[in-house]
Amino acid sequence: MKKDRRILVTGGCGYVGTVLVPKLLRRYPVTVLDSLLFGNHLKPAANLSVVEGDIRDARLMRSLLSKATDVIHLASIANDPCSDLDPALTYQVNRDAVAQLVNTAKEVGVSRFISASSSSVYGVKEEESVTEDLSLEPLTLYAKTKAESEKIVAAAAGNGFTTVSIRSATVCGPSPRMRFDVIVNIMAKSAIVDGTITVFGGGQHRPNIHIDDITDLYVMLLEVPADKINGKVFNAGATNHTVKEIAEMAQAETGATIKIDSNVTDNRSYRISSEKIKRELGFEPEKPIRQAIKDIKEAFANGVFPNPNSSIYYNIKTMKEKMAGRAV
Ligand SMILES: NC(=O)c1ccc[n+]([C@@H]2O[C@H](COP(=O)([O-])OP(=O)(O)OC[C@H]3O[C@@H](n4cnc5c(N)ncnc54)[C@H](O)[C@@H]3O)[C@@H](O)[C@H]2O)c1
Repeated sequence: MKKDRRILVTGGCGYVGTVLVPKLLRRYPVTVLDSLLFGNHLKPAANLSVVEGDIRDARLMRSLLSKATDVIHLASIANDPCSDLDPALTYQVNRDAVAQLVNTAKEVGVSRFISASSSSVYGVKEEESVTEDLSLEPLTLYAKTKAESEKIVAAAAGNGFTTVSIRSATVCGPSPRMRFDVIVNIMAKSAIVDGTITVFGGGQHRPNIHIDDITDLYVMLLEVPADKINGKVFNAGATNHTVKEIAEMAQAETGATIKIDSNVTDNRSYRISSEKIKRELGFEPEKPIRQAIKDIKEAFANGVFPNPNSSIYYNIKTMKEKMAGRAV
């Protein structure tokens, strides 16, 4: 019987995981399972074990799940263009492996499974306030596999196995495993490095959340009473800003010039409501989006990103390089 808690974080070496894991280590021993697509930027620690492997490896996952009390599942092909590179692989990683993980986790006595979904599952909605009860109309393969994985996760809940999926807004702010391919970070980087920010259209709304807030939420979800989250989904985002507003925040922080390009290739506009998670769990993001830009600026000033155009900061560039060199 498992008594002491041990948290298994899949994808723990990714952008979100690398900020989350040190927070978890203050309270629990942690095992990270990651295929290390973007390397490992976690600092070694006595109560941290990092295992290089693939969530599709059923034997390995059974052995790791047997030793875990809780799972935070982050491993994923984590954006639209990467998901489109090899659709069969995307279904395997983002959907089929999740089914295998939750079934095995339940069988071996894991008590809680927290899964990272995405607010992109809604597609584009007319509603001003996109709440969890609205239908899902995912527009991309990535969003479709996230929507399907949510159903798998919710269906497994019960008999002492607590599950929850978080429909995260786009994450922003610095991480030791940085991504410069998410909207706020893209704009902050071009403002700082190039002195200009190009905005395509600009009226589109995009929900974002600071990386410190989303990682605080994952930590909190390990402790909230099971009946408040079991089998549920929650949106998690800070204020919904337009793309132009985000550019203006980056301009205010850096003095960069904004160039508006009316040649809009992506006019998707989303606004998610994060009222349910506030009402039912008391979670409210603390950091405004502008703080993420300030934090990225400070990281640049401290020399954290000496080569910001390196492929490692862009999931699609890294995935293409890996696929050209070997199987992912
Ligand atoms: N970053 C965002 O804006 C955002 C927004 C909404 C949801 N999410 C979700 O949050 C999670 C974490 O996102 P992130 O930004 O840290 O992504 P990321 O790409 O930085 O990290 C994903 C990690 O998963 C690992 N991984 C990929 N395939 C694997 C496999 N088959 N087996 C084991 N490990 C594998 C990668 O090596 C990587 O370290 C993802 O599920 C993502 O879909 C992210």
